[in-house]
Amino acid sequence: MTADPGTPWWRSAVIYQVYIRSFADGNGDGLGDIAGIRSRLPYLAGLGVDALWINPWYPSPMADAGYDVSDYRNVEARFGTLEDAEALLAEAHTAGLRVLLDIVPNHSSDQHAWFREALAAGPGSEARRRYLFRPGRGAGGALPPNDWQSVFGGPAWTRVSEPDGRPGEWYLHLFAPEQPDLDWTHPEVRADFDSTLRFWFDRGVDGFRIDVAHSLVKEEGLPDLDGRSPVPSPRPNGSAVPPHPHWDRDEVHEIYRAWRRLADSYADPRVFVAEAWVDTPERLARYVRPDELHTAFNFDFVRAPWKAAALRATIDVTMSEHAAVGAPPTWVLSNHDVAREVSRFGREQIDEPAFDADDLRDRPFDRALGTKRARAAALLMLALPGGAYVYQGEELGLPEVEDLPDEALQDPTWIRSEHTRRGRDGCRVPVPWSGTSPPFGFSPEGTAAAPWLPQPGNWAGLTVEAEDGDPRSMLTLYRTALRLRRELPALGDGTLRWLDAPDGALAFARDPGFACVVNVSAEPVVLPEGSRPLLASGPLTADGAVGPDTAAWLATSAG
Ligand code: NOJ
Repeated sequence: MTADPGTPWWRSAVIYQVYIRSFADGNGDGLGDIAGIRSRLPYLAGLGVDALWINPWYPSPMADAGYDVSDYRNVEARFGTLEDAEALLAEAHTAGLRVLLDIVPNHSSDQHAWFREALAAGPGSEARRRYLFRPGRGAGGALPPNDWQSVFGGPAWTRVSEPDGRPGEWYLHLFAPEQPDLDWTHPEVRADFDSTLRFWFDRGVDGFRIDVAHSLVKEEGLPDLDGRSPVPSPRPNGSAVPPHPHWDRDEVHEIYRAWRRLADSYADPRVFVAEAWVDTPERLARYVRPDELHTAFNFDFVRAPWKAAALRATIDVTMSEHAAVGAPPTWVLSNHDVAREVSRFGREQIDEPAFDADDLRDRPFDRALGTKRARAAALLMLALPGGAYVYQGEELGLPEVEDLPDEALQDPTWIRSEHTRRGRDGCRVPVPWSGTSPPFGFSPEGTAAAPWLPQPGNWAGLTVEAEDGDPRSMLTLYRTALRLRRELPALGDGTLRWLDAPDGALAFARDPGFACVVNVSAEPVVLPEGSRPLLASGPLTADGAVGPDTAAWLATSAG
């Protein structure tokens, strides 16, 4: 964290993503839980991160791993109780860790009281107006109301049986059918989410990650896509972004201005991070204007291939767009929705974004190369100005698990794509903590229940226990980098200055007295004059240069 005490913490925070289902199982049912997180707080504090972001822990039928919330102001029994949650918050704060939760405003679960009420109340009822129910098209209303597609595959509409048993209206779900979209033009929807935010803020929660923040507002009349992409489609900055009927509509910002006022009303202001998959960096920056959200995940960094020009271009445009609105950038290498970076970088790097495990699976994989590049990428990420996210297991160098048996798959993508896309389970496999065979300390000793997703038998070398204290391990690299990040005033919030570097390498300076060299080429890169290595992602060459796929942090006399 930056040494300047006047800088708000979130401008330079390193936030660790706790995917609760897979982090640590305290009660022995094979599913991670709050007790598990509490037992591992010393590990997280020792890692040197500033805060945790915990994926949804609310009551949920788990049709989409908790992103189908049936009660926003309680805790799923399989994860613990509200008292457990409060105890975790208190203990995390004592350990110096802030806690962000995950709010899911675009859709609820189909088991939420509101949706059940809407089904029972029938067409034309007040209760239906909290969601997006519409009559179908075609004879007898047998066709969906428009051509929108679910992100998980298939139409974004499901037809209901009315209380009298006849086929009736359709409701919108941009994700699974168990995740009906809420209608954000309804004042009760807005008021209820305000209450939810306050409920958790009043219990000491420090902020929220906002799920699909770009989807809440739909175009009036719900017009057809008419050939527009059903998913956001990244394009170069400056290119025209035609309005989309359900992604990234301008009207969504007014909701976040109201949320910002609410967060600012606390003596210790609460913060937001937007999950917004939008078309250009300029569109992303709109979410972090001074009166809106504090930060947004920088998915362009996730999308960037391991190529110097692409990385530099992403860094430059991210920095300039965020600077234009006065917000700090964030840097992200992975999360619970994308293939782990060891597995992305261990493949031939193509210009097309390839962060989806289904798009990688058939391409040859070199784990040693992927790990080497992931180590260098970690030093790059943690040296860049702004904040960063570390997804659990990233600090251990876990690869994507690409051979999960069909019967183990739980991501709705698998079923909704009619078994053509396997989905995101490969990056959600439970964390290996210790020991030499599954469950690798994920569940308490003697637990009979297997982890909810099977761990590979060969992860003994990737456990926290195995990597702890090993100078060559990914864990040691992360711990050292995070410690230096806290110590060095140059790191965290601020700016960078590019230094001359050969083709295929990145080199930048940060004041005072810091430089980072990242070699993405095959040729060694000599250290800038007058600099000395502080930390490197791999051994330097015999002449003290930075070898291929290696990064180094340097102390410089300049600045
Ligand atoms: C984004 C979440 O990260 C993802 O896991 C989820 O499936 C969708 N939003 C729908 O809530």
